[in-house]
Amino acid sequence: MELFDSHAHYDDNRFIDDADEVITKAYESGVKYILNAGSDIETSEKSIELAERFDFVYASAGVHPHEVGKLKENDMEKIRDLCRHPKVVAIGEIGLDYYYDHSPREEQRRWLSKQLNLAKELELPVIIHNRDAHDDTMEIVKQEAPFKAGGVFHCFSGSWEMAKELLQIGFYISFGGPVTFKNAKKTVEVLRNMPMDRILVETDCPYLTPEPFRGRRNDSSYVRMVVEKVAEVKGIHIDESARVTTQNAKRLFHRSLEFKKI
Ligand code: NI
Repeated sequence: MELFDSHAHYDDNRFIDDADEVITKAYESGVKYILNAGSDIETSEKSIELAERFDFVYASAGVHPHEVGKLKENDMEKIRDLCRHPKVVAIGEIGLDYYYDHSPREEQRRWLSKQLNLAKELELPVIIHNRDAHDDTMEIVKQEAPFKAGGVFHCFSGSWEMAKELLQIGFYISFGGPVTFKNAKKTVEVLRNMPMDRILVETDCPYLTPEPFRGRRNDSSYVRMVVEKVAEVKGIHIDESARVTTQNAKRLFHRSLEFKKI
């Protein structure tokens, strides 16, 4: 079984002592692909370093809504430069977060639009973070659509109505630990309705550890619990769930030459 963790943060402080060891163990447990998502310039650089060290690790470059408040205009050029690296397979994570509001909302919206435009120009897929900002995220995404290289809403928390609109624009929807939680009724409903060929799986580690390990530090090996949940909700074998979600991620992040072979 080959699993693809489409969203991880091994640059996080919680992995400062043992990132390499955890990544290696995850690989040995069957996680054959990991996308480490950047959330500002520095962590995008760290993601690239990680991708250079491990064959099976890929990177995204972009600035998370929490961090856009500290950007200067010419940082856009830095993001563009990072995207030249062959192992950068997407722009992200970018988006809106009105739950924490760490950056002014106006700045969040402006940098989301700018980075979406960069993705269109470079023909790279986007990784979107959206928390408590469904309406504005949808408005901006629809305004900037179409996206030739597509994109994914990571750790999706919206309704089936919203998912349907995103599917029409060509987006993938990614599910993480929260879909295994007891109170995940709405997200399970979205998963139940989803076409199999648009589902990605992720951990968002070190955050959002799936059941039954909630409370522990998350890592890529736990993506298996999400793959199991997909299998359970869709009524398919776990091998099939693993095969299809891995294939979907390879199709989306097609910039990597290796993924073109599928
Ligand atoms: Ni993330």
